[in-house]
Amino acid sequence: MAKIPPGVGPRFPQVVVLFGATGDLARRKLLPGLFHLVSAGFIPDCRIVGVSLDAIDAEAFRALARAALDEFFARRLDERKWADFAARLDYVPLAAGAAPLRAAVDRAAEALGTEGRRLHYLSVPPSGALPAVRLLGEAGLVEGSRIVMEKPFGTDLASAQVLNAQLHQVFAEDQIFRIDHFLGKEPAQNILAFRFANGLFEPIWNRNFIDHVQIDVPETLGLGRRSGFYEQTGAYRDMVVTHLFQILAFVAMEPPTALEPGPISEEKNKVFRSMLPVNPADVVRGQYVGYRDEDGVDPQSETETFIALKCFIDNWRWAGVPFFLRTGKRLAEGQRIISIAFREPPKSMFPPGSGVGAQGPDHLTFDLADASKMSLSFYGKRPGPGMRLDKLSLQFAMHDTGMVGDVLEAYERLILDAMRGDRTLFTSATGIERLWEVSTPLLDHPPPVRLYEPGSWGPKSIHQLIAPHAWRLPFERAWRSPNPTGG
Ligand code: BG6
Repeated sequence: MAKIPPGVGPRFPQVVVLFGATGDLARRKLLPGLFHLVSAGFIPDCRIVGVSLDAIDAEAFRALARAALDEFFARRLDERKWADFAARLDYVPLAAGAAPLRAAVDRAAEALGTEGRRLHYLSVPPSGALPAVRLLGEAGLVEGSRIVMEKPFGTDLASAQVLNAQLHQVFAEDQIFRIDHFLGKEPAQNILAFRFANGLFEPIWNRNFIDHVQIDVPETLGLGRRSGFYEQTGAYRDMVVTHLFQILAFVAMEPPTALEPGPISEEKNKVFRSMLPVNPADVVRGQYVGYRDEDGVDPQSETETFIALKCFIDNWRWAGVPFFLRTGKRLAEGQRIISIAFREPPKSMFPPGSGVGAQGPDHLTFDLADASKMSLSFYGKRPGPGMRLDKLSLQFAMHDTGMVGDVLEAYERLILDAMRGDRTLFTSATGIERLWEVSTPLLDHPPPVRLYEPGSWGPKSIHQLIAPHAWRLPFERAWRSPNPTGG
């Protein structure tokens, strides 16, 4: 692990109040992430007060945190560091109310000294968010605090506006950090670096050279214990209106005037303002066979576990360029890619049968796995006599650089940013409300769900949606395997 440069972490010790402390996200990501941030020295000092519906005590919470780390902490767990972290954990059941919560936070702050700062993290289902906010108000824990909110930020335009208005009765907008963990992924930020730190691609990053864009996030996992939540949400609200549209904004936005929250958010919001409303005729909704038999799912459920759609950004840079988005559960492969397809050359001098164009257009592909991968595929000559063309590729993998140990997991990065008050990678109320607005035609008139087999790529009509192009996935050639020794 490289030495941590000054300024990447918060200057002051932190009290984290973690709502939903025993839940799925806390166990998988937040507790392991906080452990890493504390034990690797990113945070000067930290106390964590867990809060949830479970009537447990601090000791049981520590045991739960330890079990979570054993299961989900991907790095080596140092026992001394764990003991040190465990001593920083406290717990208050939600039912105890405002006074015991306040007392626990005061105790934690006292242990840290006067310079501490507070970060509330709401990892709770939608119905739990406002009650938690009100509890913080009652406990007098609003002033000087920041609050991280998890999606969904409403379920449509009206509910998002109501949620924002009610939030603003307690917290000011500049205290609220709406998290979209896709923006915390290293490769998402690498899109900005790639586009704006190089002179090579930006000049051709527009409708004159780009034919279409695909943002494709198939998942193999099913819903497990999340069916109850998902049944109310579906793939569009769970993934598209949040993660995929946010990524689309990074791909499509104009160069911001500075790498700062205001300018970045302004450029992203301009993309959202230019988006045409989503046309239900350009959407395929799917549901995997067997979903309706799962616990917590209505046997006649119309909830989509899959969605593919075509959308447009109607501005000077992108007018007429289709953006194809796809995501779903229980699909053939787990991938997270952005693929930029370039226009084909206007004329071909290559003889018929040479293979030019036979494997689709040239592509630039970003893989959004935690460690960035990128590939540029192009036609080149197959060795030997004559002129036969093949699709070749240039590939970059962070794994090959020896720097992969420095990668911060998305939640780690974003928690750190929220502690520092840096909102560059967080989403804004305005942007979210606009995304609900462009979604209205689809939410009002959703096309019927079509069944698909688990392990497939979704309903058959996805091919009509993208014709005359083709989905880039499944890849015709696998990523080159990473060099495990680095260097
Ligand atoms: C979450 C969605 O926000 O993102 C899940 O609620 C989805 O349904 C997950 O599986 C995907 O995130 P990642 O980081 O695993 O790609």
